Amino acid sequence: MNKLASSDPEAEAIVEFYRTVSTGALVQRADEVCRSIHGNKVWLRGLVEFSNYCSMDCQYCGIRHSNTNVERYRLSPEQIVNLTVQGYEAGLRTFVLQGGEDPWFTADRISFILDQIKTKTRGMAAVTLSLGLRPRSVFAQWKAAGADRYLMRFETSDPELHRRLRCGATLERRLEALEDLRDCGYEVGSGYLVGLPGESEETRIANALLCREKKFDMVGIGPFIPHPETPLGDAPQQPLELALRATALVRLLLPLANMPATTAAGSLDKQGREKMMAAGANVLMPNITPEDFKKNYLLYPNKICLDESGFECINCLDIRTHLVRKNIDYARGDSLSWSPEP
Ligand code: 5AD
Ligand code: FES
Repeated sequence: MNKLASSDPEAEAIVEFYRTVSTGALVQRADEVCRSIHGNKVWLRGLVEFSNYCSMDCQYCGIRHSNTNVERYRLSPEQIVNLTVQGYEAGLRTFVLQGGEDPWFTADRISFILDQIKTKTRGMAAVTLSLGLRPRSVFAQWKAAGADRYLMRFETSDPELHRRLRCGATLERRLEALEDLRDCGYEVGSGYLVGLPGESEETRIANALLCREKKFDMVGIGPFIPHPETPLGDAPQQPLELALRATALVRLLLPLANMPATTAAGSLDKQGREKMMAAGANVLMPNITPEDFKKNYLLYPNKICLDESGFECINCLDIRTHLVRKNIDYARGDSLSWSPEP
């Protein structure tokens, strides 16, 4: 039995349930728990993919530094602010600013963007950052400039696999940064990839238990989709079912967390996001990056919604959400687990 589970009898029982029941029964239980806490609500987050420059070289990622086939772009601070204002006017109340690890976006440039967004939306919009590792002092500066939340997946909880796939970057340092974010007062999101080569069922269980141990406010889980221009291009595609089981397991372990139905799930399976919403996910992230740019933010191949504007996607997502008897909600959707005094 896993070392984490043995000190947490409730988690142990949930894992035992996960190991023994069918996917149908697992997903149904997670769906019940999700609806009992979050109702039928699905929060919307406007996603802005502001830069595909990346100094990292993760073996799974299409925009890794070594991929010279990528047409690199970076939105200007003004473009980023204008997109969020446009999203705000369309009713969105949470924005996720995501990019590669791009040093052009210095601490001060991000602070400027945060300040502008907060001013122009009269403090009514929540801003989530997702731009990788930075020193604790920078996280503190951005929090002070108005950032509310931060997303940084730990990707895999197996330290050796982590180091191998992330070109020497350590799990330990990533978890330390997630602690820094917590200490700075952020709502903290993490998560992982499902179906990486070298991962086992025990790794997947350990991934979910790590989310519980760290009490993440948000957990993003996506199927790994091999990108042909990466060292893992020939790795096998694992079925979406693994990611659905992972979603359900984390929902049972962390009932209060906000969990997206990820675009990767929707890219692997036409109904992937609906299936995730029916397995415990309660967040959708329409991609409001302009079409000219989002086509170059390909972490994995066959990404959906490249020809639609994020605003068109909202109508489509509304229909998809109804298919699983849920309803989109435009409010900020703060995590129920988050509190300013950790
Ligand atoms: N398939 C699916 N998801 C991927 N990501 C990176 N590469 C891939 C891939 N090939 C995910 C990582 C990262 C997030 C932004 O995208 O988990 O944290
Ligand atoms: Fe983007 Fe359906 S959600 S086209």
